[in-house]
Order: sequence, then C-alpha cells, then structure tokens
Amino acid sequence: MQFRETELVYFSATGTTRKIIETIGSVLPGRKNAHNLLLKPIKDDFPITADRLTVAAIPVYNGRLPDYCTQSLIHLKGNDTPAIAVVVYGNREYDDALLELKTILEKNGFFVVGAAAFVARHSIFPQVATDRPDTNDLALVRDFTRKCTEKLDSLSAPEEFVPFEVKGNFPYKEAKPVPMKPSSGEDCNLCGTCAQICPVGAISVTETETRTDEGLCISCGACINACPSESRQYRGADYEKFKGKFIERFSRRKEPELFF
Ligand SMILES: Cc1cc2nc3c(=O)[nH]c(=O)nc-3n(C[C@H](O)[C@H](O)[C@H](O)COP(=O)(O)O)c2cc1C
Repeated sequence: MQFRETELVYFSATGTTRKIIETIGSVLPGRKNAHNLLLKPIKDDFPITADRLTVAAIPVYNGRLPDYCTQSLIHLKGNDTPAIAVVVYGNREYDDALLELKTILEKNGFFVVGAAAFVARHSIFPQVATDRPDTNDLALVRDFTRKCTEKLDSLSAPEEFVPFEVKGNFPYKEAKPVPMKPSSGEDCNLCGTCAQICPVGAISVTETETRTDEGLCISCGACINACPSESRQYRGADYEKFKGKFIERFSRRKEPELFF
C-alpha cells in the first residue's frame, strides 16, 4: 500500500516527543503535515483518507494519555487509513498509554501498522533519562519507521493486515492528575510567556504576580520550557522529597519497546 503524504499529530510540552516525531518524519517519503496539539488542539472531526499515513506521538502522563490529547485524538477519523502509534515516557513506565492510543486509532477507522514506546527525559524530574532520546534511541526510531513502511509496502489491501497486540491492560489504569504544579518564582518578570503557551489557560498574569489555577493545570511543563527567565519551576518541599525518591527508583535505563 502506498501513501502520498503523512499527518504528524503530536503533543510536546518540553520537546522530546517532538524530537521523536520529527525523526520519524525525516525517514518518511512525501509531504508531511504537522499538527502540534500544544499550539492548536483539534476541535472538529478531521477526516484522513486511506492514502495518508497518520503518525500520532503522545507523551505518557501517569501511565495514560493526557486527557487534553485524547480530546483531540477522538476527532481523527480514518477510513482504512494506516497509522503509527507512538508514546514517549520518562523511564518510569508507560502502563496503558500505548494500548489506549492504539485503541483510539483503531476505533476511529485506522489500522495501526506499528506501535512503539520510546524513552525520553522525564519532564517533571529531568535528572531521570536526562540525555534521552540519545543517538541510539534515534537510530531505533528510524529503524522502527522503516519497518513500518516496509510492512505497509508489503500489503496490497488493508484486509491483508494482521492485527497485533501491545503491552497494556483493560480496564486502563485510573487517570489521575499529578500533584506537582509549576509556579513562578520571585524573579518572575511578568512577561506572560507562560500564560501564552499554557494549553489549558491555567495561568494568568496581573500587574504584580503570575497566578496558576492548579485545578486547570495539567503539569505538562510547557510554561517551564518557555519561561525566558527560568523562573517557572516545580518547587516546594514535597517536590524535592519526591524527586529524590523518584530518581533513586527510576534512573536505571530502560529501552524502547516496539510492536508490529
Ligand atoms: C504530568 C506528567 C506525568 C508523567 N507521567 C509519566 C509516567 O507515568 N511514566 C513515565 O515514565 N513518565 C511520565 N512523565 C514523563 C513524560 O512522559 C516524559 O518526560 C515525556 O518525554 C514528555 O514529553 P515532552 O518532552 O514531549 O513534553 C510524565 C510527565 C508529566 C508532565
């Protein structure tokens, strides 16, 4: 089966998922259309014809897909459309996130030719998997992408496709927000960059302070990544305590897992 172009659908608050999907895109032939859900969620149904490969790459939040992303993914409407499902996680575990992504795509008319969980720097605890994805990871990303296109080439119709399973369980792990929320420090210059990038509108800037609505905040870290004065951080005694334990438990290197 041939595809003319590729839809690259991703969410990336701190840049690692973006790095991985761009590496996938660099191996694929033809035109690529990028949909960065951080900047623009998909709010209306988006039909994708069978001659367009779709790559969805989403970071893992607490073992699941962030609900913010699911709200966009449900609008992708395939019609026997080939897809590649990728989750990116911070070296703890990806639990049910890959199964969740593959299932959403399959329920929406896509057939998933390959699925993978790649490892990247943990966006809440960047001391974990700090330099990842590294050159080995990116070589694997390219290899994975080639295998997906070879598999697609070997099919003459979607009916020939043999489904495969990925790691994960039904019912999915309960989706819980993480308690760590970024905030601005005393050195905040009230520039408002954080408020502009926040995908859920959780940040407001007054003349004297930058406020975060912790009920809305999804802890993605986009504000930390964008802050020009490095004032935005996860902070506080609980964060520091948890950080130490987390680094101790989850620093042992994990390798990407690929499914075809
Ligand atoms: C709210 C939140 C929850 C997370 N939960 C997990 C998790 O369950 N397992 C894991 O290994 N990493 C977890 N991470 C780390 C991210 O999956 C990882 O850092 C990913 O590379 C972030 O992608 P990005 O750089 O594109 O934003 C979490 C990060 C955030 C912000």
